[in-house]
Parts: sequence; C-alpha cells; structure tokens
Amino acid sequence: MHSLKSFIAVLFLLLVSITSCSESDQSSKQASDIEKKINSILSKMTLAEKAGQMTQVGIPAICVQEGYWAYADTLIIDTTKLRKALTEDHIGSFLGKGYFPPTNKEYYDMINQIQDFALNETRLGIPIVYATDAVHGAHYTAGSTIFPHQITMAASWNPERVEKMAEITAYELRASNSPWNFAPVIDISWQAQWGRIYETFGEDPYLTSVMGSAFVRSSQGDDIANPEKTAVCLKHLIGYGSSLYGKDRKNALIPERYIRQYYLPPFEEAIKQGAKSVMINSGLVNSIPCHVNKFLITDILKGELSYEGIVISDWGDMQFLSEFHKTAPDHKEAVRQMVNAGIDMCMVPYDASFAHHIIELVIEDKISILRIDDAVRRILRFKFELGLFDQPNTHYKDYPDFGSDKFAQESYKGAAEGITLLKNEDVLPLNNGKKILVTGVAAHSLNYLNGPWTKTWSGQETTYNDNEKNTILEALINHNGASNTQYIAGTSYDSDINTIEAVKAAKNSDYVIVCLGEQPATERPSDIKELYLPEVQRSLVKALKKTGKPIILVLLEGRTRIISDIVPMADGILMAYYPGHEGGDAIADILFGAVNPSGKLPLTYQKHAAAPMPYIHTVSDRADNSGGYTDYDPQWPFGFGLSYTNFTYDTITINTAELFGSDTLQVLVQLSNTGNRVGKEVVQLYLRDDFASLDPDYERLIRFKKVELQAGETKEIEFFLNKKDLDFVSAANEWVIEEGSFTLMTGNRMDVVKTAKFEYQTNSL
Ligand code: BGC
Repeated sequence: MHSLKSFIAVLFLLLVSITSCSESDQSSKQASDIEKKINSILSKMTLAEKAGQMTQVGIPAICVQEGYWAYADTLIIDTTKLRKALTEDHIGSFLGKGYFPPTNKEYYDMINQIQDFALNETRLGIPIVYATDAVHGAHYTAGSTIFPHQITMAASWNPERVEKMAEITAYELRASNSPWNFAPVIDISWQAQWGRIYETFGEDPYLTSVMGSAFVRSSQGDDIANPEKTAVCLKHLIGYGSSLYGKDRKNALIPERYIRQYYLPPFEEAIKQGAKSVMINSGLVNSIPCHVNKFLITDILKGELSYEGIVISDWGDMQFLSEFHKTAPDHKEAVRQMVNAGIDMCMVPYDASFAHHIIELVIEDKISILRIDDAVRRILRFKFELGLFDQPNTHYKDYPDFGSDKFAQESYKGAAEGITLLKNEDVLPLNNGKKILVTGVAAHSLNYLNGPWTKTWSGQETTYNDNEKNTILEALINHNGASNTQYIAGTSYDSDINTIEAVKAAKNSDYVIVCLGEQPATERPSDIKELYLPEVQRSLVKALKKTGKPIILVLLEGRTRIISDIVPMADGILMAYYPGHEGGDAIADILFGAVNPSGKLPLTYQKHAAAPMPYIHTVSDRADNSGGYTDYDPQWPFGFGLSYTNFTYDTITINTAELFGSDTLQVLVQLSNTGNRVGKEVVQLYLRDDFASLDPDYERLIRFKKVELQAGETKEIEFFLNKKDLDFVSAANEWVIEEGSFTLMTGNRMDVVKTAKFEYQTNSL
C-alpha cells in the first residue's frame, strides 16, 4: 500500500513537471514567435513609421473641435485629422478622453474607429495602443466602479483588497476598450506637502512594494492578452513624492544611496512581477530632470533591473525640458536628450512634433538608429503581448459585470478596511436614535469622498456625479433616521457658510459629527503653501466645542493636513482619506459600529507644519543630546490605528539569539483579543540595526500580517526572516550586510513595544 502511494506520488510529480515544462516551452516558443514577427515588421518600417510608433497623443488632438488645445467635449473623431495622424505621422498610441467621462460604448466606438483605420488603411496595419489613467477604478468611464484612492487601500494593510481593486479595474478598463492602465503609483511620499500623496501606497518602501506588486499581478495576470487583464504602468520613476519644497514636478535632493534603498525597491519588486511599462517622473532629482537621466533610465532600469518593457514620458515632458527645466533650448534638443536617456515613447500630448524631431535627429546622427529600433521593438512587443494584432478591440457587451453591485461591494470592503480610527474617548461606536448634527464641508459631497481623478481630472466637477451613491450625511440618515439627523453645512473648504447656525443646532444635539476635508485637486493645482487644514474649518470645530457636546471628526483628505489645535477638542477621530463611492456607507457603518475599524496609517500623520518627518529616519535624526528619543513627534505614527476591541501584544520570541550565514530566523508574536468583539489587527514587525557603518534607521518595517481574532482569542503570528532583511545600502551605494546586533520590534505603534534582540554573523555555523 505504502509503495503504491509513493508510486502515485512520483507519477504525479512527473506529470506536473512534464506539464510545467511544456507550459514553459510553449511560452518561450510564443516569445520567439513574437520576436520573429517584430523583426519582420521592423525590417519593413521607414524611419517616419518608427518615429510615429514612439509617439503618443491625447485624443482631443484628433477630435472635432475648435482649436488644438481646447478639450474635446464630443469625442467625435475628425476623419481628416485621423488620416493625417495615422498615415502621415504614423502615430502609434493615444490616451485620454474629453472633458466628460465617456460611456464604455463611446470609448468602444471611438477606439474601434481608430483601430479600424490603423489596421486597414495604414501601410503596415499596426494596431494603436490606447492608454487610460485608472488609478482608483476605471474612474474615467461613466458608470464604472469607483474605488478608494490607493492611500486608503494601503491603509487596509491587506494586499487582497488591492488585488480586487486591480482585477476589477482591469475588467472595467477592458470594458472601455482600453488595454493599458497608467497605474499603479508606486512613488513613496516623504514630503508631507506633496499634493499626490493620496495616489500612493504611503511612505514606506516595503508596504508600497507589497501593495504595488499585488496590483501588478492582479491587473496583468499571467497573460496581458487576456481580455480581462490590462498592462500596468509603474509611475513615476523616481522621487516625485520628495521634492525639496513639496511642489509638483520640482527638484528633489536624494542621495543615490537613498534612491537605491528606499525609492527603487517598489519598482524593482513590481518589475519582478512582470510590469510592462514605466512612466518617468516629470520632476528632477539632484537638479537632473528624470527624463534626461540616462543613468536612471538606461543604466539602472533597463540595465541593472533588466527591465524589458516600455519607458514612457509623462504628459508634455518634451515641452517641460525646454520651457521649465531648462536643460534644452528647444523641443528638438529636448527630444534628443530624452530619447538618448532611454525614453521609448513620448506623451507629447497634442501633436506629432516629437516624431518629426526624431526623424531629423536620426538623419543628423544625433540619435542612433539602434536606439530607435530598441524603442520600437519594445513598443511592438508590447502590442503583440497585449494581443492587439489578433484582437484590437474589446467589446463592452462582453463585460456584464461592469459597474455591478458585486463590484461595488469590493470597493466598499476596501473603504471599510482602510478607514482608520485615530482617537476614541469612549464615544464610538454611536448608538442609534440619538440626535446628531452632521456638519462640515465633506459631510454632503460625493466629490470629497472620491477625491481627484474621478470623472474629471480635478474631481471637482459635480455634473457627472453618480447621485445614487450615498454621501456621509445620506448614509448616516440610513442608520439614524432623518428626524434624528440634522445637517448644517458650516463651511466650504476655506470660507464660512453658517458656523453660527451649526453651533445653535449643536446645542440641541447629543453628538456632533464634523466632516472636515481637503478639496479634491491634483498635480500643480494640489500644491499648497500651508499644511494646516484651512483655519475656517478648524474654527468651526472650536466654536462647536464651546457647546460641550461630544465631537467626532471625520477627515476626508489626501495628505495629513495639520489639525493639532483641534485634536484635543475631539472625542473621536476617523481618518477616511478619499474612500471612494462606497465611502459614505463605510464611514457610517464604522461610526455606528456595524464595522469594527481595522485600518492603520500607511503614512505618518504630521503634527508640526515646520517639522514634518516620515517614520523612516536615522537614530540621530530622532535622538536629542541626552539620548532620549524626542524628535519624531507625529500626531499619530505610521502604522497606528485603533479598533473597537482591545489587542494585547503578549510576547515576541525568536528561535535563536544568534543567526548565522543564510539561516532563517523564526519570529513569533503572540497576540490576544482582550476586548469583547471580533476584530482585525495588523501585526507589524520592525527592524533596527543597532550599530552600523552608517547612522542606522531607527526602525524599518520588514513584515506585516493582518489577522482576525474572536473576542478572547489568542494567536501566534509567525514570520521568517533571513539575511536579506538585514541589508542596507552602504556609502559606496552597494547593498551590504554587516555583522552585529539587531533589534526586532512589534506593538501597537503607540505605547506598547515588544522587542527581541539577536546577533548576526556572516559565516555559517
Ligand atoms: C500625470 C500622470 C498621468 C498622465 C496622463 C500626467 O500629468 O502626472 O500621472 O498618467 O498625466 O494623464
């Protein structure tokens, strides 16, 4: 009997290995077939056709409209412009939409018309590739599922939530006939003022790597030709989130050591998962515009990381180089600089001038044809891998789940798991049937829930809102009844509306829920000069406090705007970030206790406008002269978040105090739910190198796990570490591991820290 079992097991293994061998044989055959086809097309292409493939233009450029720069408001293709774009300029890629969010039928018709022309009326019949920004769901298609922004998804600390978001976004984007998503954003944000923090997974390289890779895997699947999958675009390489003065597309000063240790790993991980495209940061690092940084694009990305996909510019960077960054006196020189640095495709965005400059530069021998062929090869490979030669369009009728309730449920789960409880002085959850006043700029607005990149770029337009979705007020009424729930606006983003009336109403209420917020804005318009939330919003809270009624703050904001003066006045505080279409319901469910909050901050909640600091900083950065640890003084630290139950960190234990060579260290954290309801906790493991040749980081996240515990339950959470977790980038810009003592830390990120120490030696025992 025993030998029969062994025989069956061997047979099974043999079969598995034969299948996987044949699978890998098949995929390498497919790859070599694609290379043959690329060679054949490339050999027939003229220089102009190659230059056109490298050019991406915005759809308004070929639409019926007055003037080149005006936004299209019809999306009706102008056939003369289309003919010129495809037969004279040989444009290979389009992006975007008009001002309004088109339906998936409108996308289908428009893209299909371009594809038809490209396949049937151009000399080589190369399909175009269409790109769309879908950074929190397919938010540029009417009726789609709008997810929370990435920062909320990161706050869930649950990669499964991100996988669902990426999966549904890919499906709905394909339902919009677009196979290429300009997402995820895997910049890390170390500049508290930066206006695009909400688009990121926060400030930590490890959390960003885990979430970014989950997004890539789920969006692309095993095969991007699958009509339910889309190619991703990792953006923006590199340092966009750390400009020196906190503004959009400006200079960041980042030592190479930091680039390698903190900024690059999320890109590296996502590339290992097979990410097919990378977009370059429109800003500068160490005064070099990233778009002309050959060391970054060619040596590091394409060389060291062996990245084989497309490198695309950001919007209008040819122009930026000469008009803002001033490395090039004219556009032609800008093109020379960017293509020679390694850019394969330029988002021009409104004409074919980029392609025309390329032709001249190659003829003048200022760009080699080898560089052009490399770029075009990558672009053609991308189109073949996307299956566009065989299936140039995907039809909305094949996507019955588009905008479905079951997808909305997944968006809800992201919001419900991400929203973070920051303060609770025995006020939450609320009981039904009490008199509540709901006030504040974000209380009755879908725009403040969805944030920017929703229907329109800025997300401020209300015309296209899906009004069947609940605002916070509407969701609260569903719980508490209209007769018990009063609404007074209070203020707009930055001016008073009727604070006095709100105060009067508060006097007759049992609780006051104040929904403060940051007006949706992105890129340049999201730049701020003041990190404090506008004074008028804080004054509303101060005036309400005088009534003596319990106050609950709900924060709808894209970065951590400072509220240090009103924190002591609030009994409860909920950080909702931009929680998306289902955010109103998720907030109300948390406030009334239907959901036990489990979000944790994926970034430091800043307290001091003059001294914002990310949680990754060196031991010296944090220490004062007397050896105490005082300088990291956030409002709430990275990784913090409360629950309606209590979690106790009982112990942290390791299987050895001496780790050798490539051995594995087992870490066990014992956690108990000592409260009275089921809840989820994110167990976080941090590491400190106690002594190193460089001032070591005070702490660095190296593992985390989200677990659910019943009331009264105790669990052991197991982590495994190895020497790779101990390394850092040395002064010589190389990853090194130094022997010595290390400290592991876990706890609630506030007053409980459990530690374990071990020694590492490079030699094996
Ligand atoms: C943004 C990118 C975006 C691109 C296309 C740029 O301005 O920086 O993140 O993908 O526009 O819309």
